[in-house]
Amino acid sequence: MKNKILIEDIRAIAESISSESRKLNGKTVLITGGAGFLGKYFILTLDYLNKNVLEKPCKIISIDNFITGLNYPIGENSNFKTIKHDVSKPIKIDDDIDFIISAAGIASPEFYRKFVIETIDVAVLGTKNMLELAKRKKVESFIFFSSSEVYGDPDPQFIPTPETYFGNVSCIGPRANYDESKRLGETLCISYRQTHKVPVKIVRPFNVYGPGMRLDDYRVIPNFISNVFKGNSIPVYGTGNNTRTFCYATDALTGFFKVLLSDYNGEVFNVGNDNNEISMLALAKTVADIFDNNVKIGYVSGPIDAYAEADPKRRCPDLSKIKTMLGYKPKVDITTGIIRFIRWAIEEFNIKSPLASVIKDKEIETN
Ligand SMILES: NC(=O)c1ccc[n+]([C@@H]2O[C@H](COP(=O)([O-])OP(=O)(O)OC[C@H]3O[C@@H](n4cnc5c(N)ncnc54)[C@H](O)[C@@H]3O)[C@@H](O)[C@H]2O)c1
Repeated sequence: MKNKILIEDIRAIAESISSESRKLNGKTVLITGGAGFLGKYFILTLDYLNKNVLEKPCKIISIDNFITGLNYPIGENSNFKTIKHDVSKPIKIDDDIDFIISAAGIASPEFYRKFVIETIDVAVLGTKNMLELAKRKKVESFIFFSSSEVYGDPDPQFIPTPETYFGNVSCIGPRANYDESKRLGETLCISYRQTHKVPVKIVRPFNVYGPGMRLDDYRVIPNFISNVFKGNSIPVYGTGNNTRTFCYATDALTGFFKVLLSDYNGEVFNVGNDNNEISMLALAKTVADIFDNNVKIGYVSGPIDAYAEADPKRRCPDLSKIKTMLGYKPKVDITTGIIRFIRWAIEEFNIKSPLASVIKDKEIETN
């Protein structure tokens, strides 16, 4: 790995979990969805820990079927094995397994409206297959990647939204195949905990972003930046009044590892950044500002039904639980995170746009 931003990010994550990471000494970690955005961060962090921190390296096994994932960030080696497989089909693995990170999923609305049934299959059948594996292998810990989407379009009195909020979700709407299958994935986890004592933990990430996202992923930050570099205006859907909070990858990964390596079995944790609830229009203005306002903002209608008809109005996590129980504290502000994402993209894709030079000298805090 050569990308300067990613190298700094991985080091920052490893430092922030220095007391917990020893639990991985000599263990085997199975991750599903390892070729995706968050999966790559997990693999790079575990690889960094193997090379720099752990006395005895951990073994990493990744399963991905590349339905949206493109590649792995490192090549196979004695501590890193990959399996091309659809987790919605059962799988037999001979190795002992100590930790399971169940991160396979189809996260971007653009893709989950294209792969409608596959999205349900991975969240339900894929999760069940991994829970079965966890039961057979008697794992130490299992983490399921649910989503803040389980809250649907929250009632304003439940914003910021705590884990105890039941959600306001349509079971037949344009987002239902993602939202409802994540909800059933959570129910499966809790049921395996109750019935088979599988040590499950559930995380509900709130809009995590950062290096490694596909530029054609259509989630809002890569979408805005890729349009800027194509010379287009920044596409704001509808009025741009809907809000989200954005959590940079280093903060989120710190939270995910803290949950995975904790003893809070059967618990659900929001993971995100509660400092920066921002409307899509304000986000577009922030991006324009980063480029010294050399780009325009354009208003367009949401390209798919998940945006045009069913985009939740507000999303902001209540992080009291993870802060109190696990000492989690998000650090990276939105402007810093976006500049880091842009710098990563420029280096990674060798982007030559004149706009690339605009942000070269921008001051950012290192994380
Ligand atoms: N990034 C976020 O902001 C966010 C927010 C909420 C929830 N999540 C959840 O976290 C997980 C990881 O998110 P991400 O942003 O890295 O998504 P991603 O789309 O970048 O990566 C998901 C990976 O899962 C793989 N995959 C999908 N279906 C599969 C299957 N049936 N078998 C094997 N592999 C399969 C894909 O090929 C891809 O590599 C997902 O489950 C997602 O739903 C992410």
